[in-house]
This record gives sequence, C-alpha cells and structure tokens, in this order.
Amino acid sequence: MPPNLIVVCVHGRNFRRFSEVHEFEKPNDEKALNLMNQCAMAVLEEYPDIVFSYGYSDEYSFVLKKTSKFYQRRSSKISSVVVSFFTSVYVTKWKDFFPFKELRYPPSFLSRIVRCTSLEVLQAYLAWRQRDCHVQNQYNTCLWELVKKGGKTKFEAQEILKDAREQDRNELIHQQFGINYNDSLALFRQGTCIFKTEVEDIVKYNEDGTPVKRLRRKASTFRTENIAGRRFWNAHAGLVKELGNFSEDCFKINPDYIRSFVFESKLMPSTWIVIRKDGCHFHRFSDVHEFNKPNDKQALHLMNLCAVAVLEEFQDIVFSYGVSDEYSFVLKKDSQLYQRQASKIVSAIVSFFSSVYIIKWKEIFQNKDLKYPPSFDGRAVCYPSNDILQDYLAWRQVDCHINNQYNTCFWSLVKSGKSKSEAQNYLKGTQAREKNELLLKEFGIDYNTLPLMFRQGSSIFRVKVTSRHSVYS
Ligand code: GTP
Ligand code: MG
Repeated sequence: MPPNLIVVCVHGRNFRRFSEVHEFEKPNDEKALNLMNQCAMAVLEEYPDIVFSYGYSDEYSFVLKKTSKFYQRRSSKISSVVVSFFTSVYVTKWKDFFPFKELRYPPSFLSRIVRCTSLEVLQAYLAWRQRDCHVQNQYNTCLWELVKKGGKTKFEAQEILKDAREQDRNELIHQQFGINYNDSLALFRQGTCIFKTEVEDIVKYNEDGTPVKRLRRKASTFRTENIAGRRFWNAHAGLVKELGNFSEDCFKINPDYIRSFVFESKLMPSTWIVIRKDGCHFHRFSDVHEFNKPNDKQALHLMNLCAVAVLEEFQDIVFSYGVSDEYSFVLKKDSQLYQRQASKIVSAIVSFFSSVYIIKWKEIFQNKDLKYPPSFDGRAVCYPSNDILQDYLAWRQVDCHINNQYNTCFWSLVKSGKSKSEAQNYLKGTQAREKNELLLKEFGIDYNTLPLMFRQGSSIFRVKVTSRHSVYS
C-alpha cells in the first residue's frame, strides 16, 4: 500500500553449503561478491522502478521508487520476479566469474518484501543492513585469521570470539596478526550500493566529428562508510527525487523497526498450499527463441525437467501440474516448510526452478543459445479441502485444453496463409466441436491424436519403486 516504500530483500538459500561446495575464499570471496554485484546491476537495468540497492555477502536489498506501480504493487509478484531474474543472471554469469569452476548444483535465493512506512524507516533498514555487514565481516575476519594463521580449530576460534566486543576484535587481529581492519577492502567492510545517476553519453558523432551527447540514467557502483548518512544520501539528486532526503542522521536503530523488518506472514495451517509459477513475458521469450507454435516439445520438456528437479529438492511437494509456461506445485497439508512463510516458500521454488531452467537449457537446446535470462513469477494460495484442490487442478487443466485447442486451430489457419486477425475472427464464438471439425476437414488433423502433453499438460509426482522413492512424470 502507498505510501509504504517497497524493499525487496534477496539472499542466498543455504549459501553456507553453496560457498563450501564451490570453495569460496574465506572470509570473503571477491569474485563471488562481484558476481552478486553484477546480478544486482542487471536487476537495476531490468526494472526501472528499482532506484537503489545495497548488498553484501549473499544478500541484496532493492528499493523501489515511492510512486512505483510495478505489478500493481503486488508483493508476491514483485518479490518472486526479482529473485527469479537475479537467480537467472547469477547462473548465466557464473562462468564469467568462475571460468574454471563448474557449478556443482543449482544455486537458489530466497526473497521477501520489507515494507518501510516512511523514509525514516528505510533509513533505519539500510543502517541495520550495513551494520550487519560490518559486524559479520569483522567477526569472520577474526575467525579466519585465528584459524588460518593462528592455528586454531574453528571451534576454538569461535570460543575465543564469543565474548569479544567490537573493539576487542579489532585489537585482536591487530596485535596477533598485524592487520589493520580498516585497511581491508571497502567491498568487504562496507558492502556495495548500486543506483542510477545521470551520466553524459555520446550517442553519435556529427559529420564534422563533434560528439552528440545526451544525458542517460546509468547504474553505477558506490561505496561509503555510512549509506544511511545524510552526507552520502542527500548528495545524490536521483535518490532525493525518487525517495526523499534524510532530515537527520541515524545513530540508533529503533528495535521496533527491526521487528517489523523480520516479520513474515504465514500460510494457514492444515491447508493444501499451491505455489503457481508462471513465465514472465513468455510470449516474447518464445518468439525470440523461435519455439514451435503452438507447442514446442523441447521447451515443454525443459519445463518438465525443471519441475522434476523441484520435486527432488522439496520433499513436501506431493503433486505438480504444468502447462505452457506455468507450473503448479502442491505441498502437503501439514507441510512445515519454512514454517509456512509464504514469501520463503514461493521464492525458494521459483528461484530454484529458474536456476535449473538455465542450467538445463543447453542440454535440451543444443544448437540454440539462451539470448537473455528468463524470469518467472510465483504466488501461494491455500486450499482447505480436497474438493477445492481438485477444482483448482481441474480448472488449470480445462484452461490447458481450451487454450491448446484454440491455439492449434489458430496456428493452423495462420500457417495456411491467413493473417492473425483473420484467424482470430474465423475462430470467434466457435465451440469445441466446430474447432475439431475445422482441424479435421481443413487440415486433416485429428485433434484427439495430438500428443497428450499438448492436450492435457503434464503432472509430476512420486511413485514408490522397490528400492527408493522416485519422481515420475
Ligand atoms: P505474463 O505471464 O503476463 O508475463 O505474459 P506471457 O507472455 O508469459 O503470457 P502467458 O503466461 O499468458 O502465456 C504464455 C505464453 O507463452 C503463450 O501465450 C505463448 O506465447 C508462450 N508459450 C508457452 N509455451 C509455448 C510453446 O510451447 N511454444 C510457443 N511458441 N510459445 C509458447
Ligand atoms: Mg506467462
């Protein structure tokens, strides 16, 4: 709701394990951080309503402009689309940052919306995140110095640091290892801000060779000790214009605000949870990638493979149904996944799906490059009874049937030489039987013999096999 400021917070899902498996340097891996920054940069370029971002370690916060109407300000859409795109870019760009390291498994991120009721609350949020960056980094720097140079075990190092205050930690690494904490990279100590500023760009050259310049908004990287300070913030006209200016500095973070930042709503207990994800602008995506019309077997197969991977990853999903660019995942009634926190469940599934989609693309489309990273949105709906869940699934399958029958006729007409609007007019008001007749008489297609996957969609669930559970589609 306006006038709340919308912040999307994205952070790595089980990144402790991910960074260990991929042997990230400790306590900070510069390449991994730069990859995160690159993803944030891509997010800012992709979504013009995002006007500020701040990140460190495996998290990034994106702030939308005050007046944003992005996805009608629907939190589930905004949060899932951003995390999906972020994940897609992360996987796509992995090779640029780690040319000699294979991705061992699909990385995924969680996301949630933080509502800031005023600019003062946003200021406290940013101060809180940067404080966390500092505290974590200082702790980890000490910990790994004690382990790497001090010969301590991780447990011993943790014990030494348990009661040490901020000042003690600085002294410890200074005295024992001769390290001045403030000399370490600002990237590690302060995190990274990315936002758009107006820059002069040369768009072309006149005949006499003089450059024609134009002002363009371009995302750039900034680092500062205090992102929530007046001096830094108010000095950037773009931030002041889109979000407002800070009237005071923020020295103490109100604990009530922090409670509101970590609050997450939960889905109703003992109800079926359905997470439906849908491709964003897949109309364009399928055109750009020249998918067969109306159905592309390989594209659908890729969707199915991703859904299988989702079922392997999330044991609480008992059934899923997919058609076109959408997939519905049904979680068991008593699922306690992420304590039933909606944003966590939606983002984990959508992000994981996006990750697998990019990773498996090459396997399916050997001769087709992925031209840009796709994204998916997601939502969660609870269904209290089996009947209602059944209705839901029947509704999605009826939708599949109606769309597929219409599209089969439409593209047959277009391929036979009709324009798109002629085909549309021709089909207006026709019933199912007439469409089937048209296909049979005009094009010799018996609709009922077309592949089942096109006509009925795909379902994926587990079946018991002798030695173990396995996913079946
Ligand atoms: P939003 O979901 O609102 O972002 O728009 P969208 O463009 O993704 O459209 P929507 O989800 O309503 O419909 C999915 C679209 O994906 C279809 O209209 C097709 O254009 C495209 N699509 C999905 N599967 C296939 C396929 O197998 N072949 C082709 N050619 N297109 C497909
Ligand atoms: Mg779509």
